[in-house]
Amino acid sequence: MGTALPAGKLTNFDLEKRIDTTNEWILDRTGISERRVATDDETTDVLATAAGAEAIKASGIDPELIDLLIVATITPPQKLPATSAFVQDNLGLACGAFDLVAACSGFVYSVVMADSLIKTGGARAALVIGAETLHTMVDPMDRGTVILFGDGAAAGVMVPSAPAYGVLGSDIGCDGSLANILYVPPGAEFVQMDGKAVFRGAVRACVQSATTALERAGIKGEEIDVFVPHQANTRIIDAIVERAGLDNARTVKNLDKYGNTSAASIPLALAEAQPNDGDLVLLCGFGAGMTWASAVIRWGTGL
Ligand code: COA
Repeated sequence: MGTALPAGKLTNFDLEKRIDTTNEWILDRTGISERRVATDDETTDVLATAAGAEAIKASGIDPELIDLLIVATITPPQKLPATSAFVQDNLGLACGAFDLVAACSGFVYSVVMADSLIKTGGARAALVIGAETLHTMVDPMDRGTVILFGDGAAAGVMVPSAPAYGVLGSDIGCDGSLANILYVPPGAEFVQMDGKAVFRGAVRACVQSATTALERAGIKGEEIDVFVPHQANTRIIDAIVERAGLDNARTVKNLDKYGNTSAASIPLALAEAQPNDGDLVLLCGFGAGMTWASAVIRWGTGL
């Protein structure tokens, strides 16, 4: 895996000076202390490239084996072409490349897509990246959203594995009737959110999705060694852990440092968690759409 985080920080204390809020309120309601903010030069493709290069290096794989590049993002630097085209060129890859738009579920969706293509012989290896510059989508003066979101990128290289390793079970879903609880209205610049509706929907979707993926993998919640939920809000994560029968002590949380980085949040937390070979890992994301996605992974290749 590889990560790329802009150096610029926006702390709760910085926000206290800008909007009507307090460090205590933000910490208590979300668990977030600070977020990273990219400069104008650190566009999504730039962050994605840096994370991707680090992942390729860490994997030790010959880049010529990479037949697929997926960049999960909702903050592309331009409408056309896809962000992945720039990232592919920057990394010198020769492969199929596309962007995947499933908001905060985007990275897990990408893992499921890449896994399927590898298992069916369509790709020898895949580079999956979650990358965002969410500050471009958030009204800097809206206290309901600016406290939550941050910028960053993280990537992973996926290769074939023995049958008992890799993705053992997964679930992807979407309920488009909830599109308007977290969206950018047509013609508008910034995201609008019904925070309470998102909170409720996130807990419900994640618990159901994690349970489905676990069932498909034939794994029980208590067997999971590393649970990596989408890093949106500590209270959402705590509710999911409790209702899905998972273990708080084995749950990864790094949102205090980065806030909600959408498609980058799960790979950033996964990269920091550094699972051991053979660990059972559960990824669970939810986001605008409303989308959700879960994957149960036996870490390593077993080969
Ligand atoms: N600082 C201080 N007060 C704030 C505030 C802020 N940044 N934002 C809102 N408030 C106020 C509200 O105006 C409201 O005041 P009122 O009671 O006088 O009207 C009060 O705090 C409670 O607001 P409410 O929106 O009900 O708070 P909440 O407990 O629902 O917390 C969120 C708000 C956004 C933190 C919470 O709803 C949440 O995290 N939702 C999920 C969002 C999310 O994860 N989105 C991304 C999903 S991928």
